[in-house]
Amino acid sequence: MGESEYIEKKELVISLPGRELKLYVAADIEALITDINDEDKVPCWADVWPAAYGLAHYIWETIDFLTDEKVLELGAGMGLPGIVCGLKGAKLTLSDFNPIALEMAGNNARINGLDAELLQEDWRKFACQDKFDCILASDILYDPKLNFYLGKIFSNNLKPGGKILISHPGRKATYEFLDKWLDNNLFREEKHLREIELKDALLPRYNIVIHNISFPLHIC
Ligand SMILES: C[S@@+](CC[C@H](N)C(=O)[O-])C[C@H]1O[C@@H](n2cnc3c(N)ncnc32)[C@H](O)[C@@H]1O
Repeated sequence: MGESEYIEKKELVISLPGRELKLYVAADIEALITDINDEDKVPCWADVWPAAYGLAHYIWETIDFLTDEKVLELGAGMGLPGIVCGLKGAKLTLSDFNPIALEMAGNNARINGLDAELLQEDWRKFACQDKFDCILASDILYDPKLNFYLGKIFSNNLKPGGKILISHPGRKATYEFLDKWLDNNLFREEKHLREIELKDALLPRYNIVIHNISFPLHIC
């Protein structure tokens, strides 16, 4: 047990076609705010964002992994899309710079029958050199100051033939990043939409954009 033990939690039940998942998230996010002037301390890790539901549905419905295929979820928060990849057969690594988020995401993986590797890394000084078959980015490309570092991780940590799955609720910063980044790289992009309905939200319906970006195995 670590620091996450002291966080009051609530259970979320996530229904995917033919399967229910349980996740534990923070019950009171405002109680976790310690310094509103420090962006790194905003507890945006403590809940599941609409983009994560959209990506989880997309992966569940369309993607299967071979058992030795490695998936890295960046800025995993509570880890939903990564956990769905684990359930579809992948070897899962959950990553975040917040140690409590990582502990909770690891516990969420465990209660859904998965043994995920946990990687505490800050995008701005990402030291992991491992290569992954798939990198997940659910609602993390929101800040142009940070997007530069995420672009570097995509380039350095993806295997040839691998894919990046990005989801967001139509964020300008994400589109602007991708417009430039895809122009400078040899990736192929497919776009998909998932409409997500959430029970307890003020704004219950979201259109989540998913970018399925693949890096060719052979470059002609
Ligand atoms: C908007 S939340 C999204 C959480 C989750 N991916 C989801 O969609 O539910 C952003 C996540 O990125 C993490 N994060 C923010 N800045 C980071 C950084 N510099 N390095 C690593 N993780 C970071 C936060 O801790 C948080 O978990």
